[in-house]
Formats: sequence, structure tokens, C-alpha cells
Amino acid sequence: MCVEQFDKHILCIGAGYVGGPTMAVIAKNCPRYKVTVVDISEERIARWNSDNLPIYEPGLDEVIAACRGKNLFFSTDISQGIRDSEIIFVSVNTPIKNFGIGAGMAADLQYWEKTARQILEYSNSSKIVIEKSTFPVKTALAMQRIFSSGENGCQFEVLSNPEFLAEGTAIKDLEEPDRVLIGSMETDTGRKARDVLVDIFANWVPRDRILTSNIWSCELSKLVSNAFLAQRISSINAISHLCEKTGADVKEVALAVGMDSRIGSKFLTASIGFGGSCFKKDILNLVYLCRFYHLNEEADYLEGIVKINEYQKGRFVRNMINIMFNTLSNKRICLFGFAFKANTGDTRETPAIAIARGLMGENAEIVITDPKALQNARIDLQDADPGRVSFVEDPYEAAAGTHAIAVITEWDFYRHLDYQKIYDSMVKPAFIFDGRNILDHQKCFEIGFNVYPLGKTALSHLGN
Ligand code: NAD
Ligand code: UGA
Repeated sequence: MCVEQFDKHILCIGAGYVGGPTMAVIAKNCPRYKVTVVDISEERIARWNSDNLPIYEPGLDEVIAACRGKNLFFSTDISQGIRDSEIIFVSVNTPIKNFGIGAGMAADLQYWEKTARQILEYSNSSKIVIEKSTFPVKTALAMQRIFSSGENGCQFEVLSNPEFLAEGTAIKDLEEPDRVLIGSMETDTGRKARDVLVDIFANWVPRDRILTSNIWSCELSKLVSNAFLAQRISSINAISHLCEKTGADVKEVALAVGMDSRIGSKFLTASIGFGGSCFKKDILNLVYLCRFYHLNEEADYLEGIVKINEYQKGRFVRNMINIMFNTLSNKRICLFGFAFKANTGDTRETPAIAIARGLMGENAEIVITDPKALQNARIDLQDADPGRVSFVEDPYEAAAGTHAIAVITEWDFYRHLDYQKIYDSMVKPAFIFDGRNILDHQKCFEIGFNVYPLGKTALSHLGN
């Protein structure tokens, strides 16, 4: 199909975890649109154009195979991409600022500002520019101001369309979203631009799931959604500690609480703490915003979600030290999983990093196994003493000769391993610390393991 035959030309700047899958699903559902994804990273684009995609996401390979080269293209030619498109999604990264005012809390907006300036510089026609990244409230205003400084006569309409996909289920989330949120300025041109975006999603999303709102509500809703999700995890994680003290079982408590239809059952699984690139940064962004407006009580409340999360990771390590006779020196500990959740190779903000460093800080040797995340784990721990950490693909090999297994990621196949074989290969007494509560604890106990689940009574042969 030649370029002229397409009905619309869509560009996405940023070919990451959001840009790649999101554009692939738009391309799949809108064969009449040409979708181009650009990035400054040549390596990333080369991988998007290969059979070795830069991210692991179930179902992604199939969507890419169906569209790439037909109406989906990956390129490093950002200026050409901008010139050729009338609709531009911005999906660059928005990490936490690590310098200057707001360091450790505010969003580092240098990537989007650079992008906005590039759009302005290379545009020779009017564009709709869509914030796909998660931005602080009022970013659209700053973006609009940059565009207004242009003198080339092009008009730019800024929309907000935050992404709600979760990694590991991204394709399903994009194909069947709970809702699509589109925010615009409340002007005639703003509403007109919004309708263009509504029409794109209406190709596959039922109209009643496409919400339109004012642009500030839209930007804020994304941050608040992540804060609410993370708040539920921190709440159940706080309760997990109380369960351990009182003899209650956090799974039973979560089930009972979640069956109240007003509360709901999702996001009540106790864990070693939430990870991922967004929860912490988005909550700290909200905290920063509250403090900016002198809403200190509200800021403290939200910050508590992150504090409990940090506490939960530290508590897991302290518990291991305590149980393993108050010393981990030169003991070998196997981490089952390193990704921040199952079904992804992503390790950004994974609790595994803090736990691995905590254990190595006690002079333990760690052996890390994970089916998809070892490459990232090596990068995350590249500064560690090579004598203290090793990376092993096969879980049986990884566990052999270790004193303890710590389950970090809830990969389903960990449930089905041969734990008798694993036990036989370990140093005794052998310990399991199940940070995800996914194993059959009674069975492992009967094999001979001392089992320490999260949020319920331990099964120990040692009397502790
Ligand atoms: P990412 O780091 O995987 O991808 C961002 C990409 O942008 C990188 O490949 C980077 O090279 C590229 N980039 C940066 N500056 C650029 C520029 N000037 N020109 C061209 N390319 C540039 O990040 P991500 O996980 O895709 O997240 C992107 C945004 O989406 C963030 O704001 C995040 O909060 C939000 N978000 C992420 C998820 C998720 O699951 N990862 C879900 C919803 C929302
Ligand atoms: C999360 C949100 O779910 C998405 O809606 C949002 O778009 C995205 O953040 C974002 O803005 O980046 P994601 O981080 O990919 O998605 O994955 P989640 O399924 O939310 O899990 C986040 C973390 O919480 C993981 O470490 C997971 O193991 C942990 N978690 C999740 C729990 O500990 N308990 C739970 O009950 C659920």
C-alpha cells in the first residue's frame, strides 16, 4: 500500500513499553491508518524491526507480525515522522527528577520539552499533539505555550490521553480497555480535536467506554488511578504484618474483605511490595503537587503509600536474617524471579533490587533466576561484587547448594516445580521465604522445608 492511500497518518514519539504496544494495537484495529513509531534509541528501533522485540509482552509478537511493514512502521527519523503526520502521540519517559528543586519527587520533564520543541521545529502543517505519557497536571498548558511560541503559522491542539495498560496484560488491556480517557481544552478547536481522537478509538472500543473530560481532570485522573491501585497494595501489605503477629491469614482476610462488592477483590494480594516504573513516581508526583499547593496533610497521606512499600521490602530482608539465625554471612540465597511482576522482563523499581542489595549487604551470596528478566537484572546489579551474585536460567540449577529460596516474582511455573528435587539439592536446614504466597506451603513443609509465607503463620521444623 503506498503512503497516499492511508486515511490518517499517526506518529508516536517514544517506542517504549507504552508507545510500541499501544501503536501496534491502533495499527491492528485501524488498517486504514498509517502508524509510525519513532525513538532516539537506534538500538530500540532496530529491535522493533527485528524478531527480537525490545520488550516481552504476551501476544505482542503476533500483533507486530500482523501489521509491521503494512501500516505500522518503526523509525529513528523523527523529523520526517513529524512532517508526515497530523496526529502525534507523545509517549516518552517521564522519570523522577534526580537533581535540583523537587529532586526525588517531581517529574523530570526534560524529555517531553525536548519533544515539544522538536514538534514545533519540524512541523509544516497543523497537528493534534496527544500526551500519552503520564504527565503532572498542567503539563498540557506548558506544552501549549511552547507551541504558541512558534512563528510558522501551524496550529497545535494538545490533548491528554493517559494510558492505563498494565505490563504482562498490555495487549488485552489495549484491546479491551475498561475505559479510554480523552481530555481537551474546553474550546471549539479543543473539542474538535478530541472528536478526532474519539473516532480513532471508536474503531474497536465501545463508545460508552470512551470518556471525555476537561484536560486537567484527565491528567489528574491518571495519577489518582495509580495512587488508588497502589494504596490498596500498601493497605493489604500493612495488614500482612498484623496477620503474622496475630495468627490470621492474609489471603483469608483479603478474600473476606474483597467479597464486599463495595471494596472488590482486585489488587488485594499481599506481596514484598509493588514495583514497576510508575506507581512510586506517580504517587510522588501527586505528593509534590499537594505540597506545591500547601496541602501538607494530603501529601503526608499519599506519601504513606510509598513509605509502607519501602518498609515492606526491608521487612522481608530483616525477617530472613532473623529466621536464619541472625546471620547471612556467606550463606547462599536463591531469588526466584527478578521482574517486578510475572509475564514481563521489566525490572524497573522491582522490589528484587532492594532485596538483593539488602541480602548482599549482609554478605550473603545471591543466585538469581528468572525466565525473562536476567538481562535486565545483570544491568541493575552491574555494580555488585561479582563474587556475590550470579545469574542462572534454570531454577533447579540456581537453587542447588543454596540455604534458602526467596520467591520474588509470581511466575506461575514456580508453583509447579519439583520441590522434593530442589530440597534434596539444598543446604540443610533449607528455607523458603514466599514473598508472593504462590507455593503449596504445606507440601513444602512436609518435604522438609522451613516455610515462611507472607502474612500467615510460618511452618517451621525449627520451633521459630
Ligand atoms: P520507556 O522508557 O519504556 O519508553 C520511553 C521511550 O521514549 C524510550 O525508548 C526513549 O528512548 C524514548 N524517548 C525519550 N525521549 C525521546 C525523544 N526526545 N524523542 C524520541 N524518543 C524519545 O517508558 P514507558 O514505560 O513506555 O513509559 C512512557 C510513559 O508512559 C511514562 O510517562 C509512563 O509513566 C507512562 N506509562 C507507562 C506504563 C507502563 O506500563 N510502562 C503504563 C501507563 C503509562
Ligand atoms: C500499573 C497499573 O496497573 C496500570 O493501570 C498503569 O497503567 C501502569 O501501572 C502505569 O501507569 O505504569 P503495572 O505497573 O504494569 O501497571 O502492573 P500492576 O499489575 O499494576 O503491578 C504493579 C506492582 O504491584 C507489581 O509489582 C505487582 O506485583 C504489584 N501488585 C499488584 C501487588 O503486590 N499486589 C496486587 O494485588 C497487585
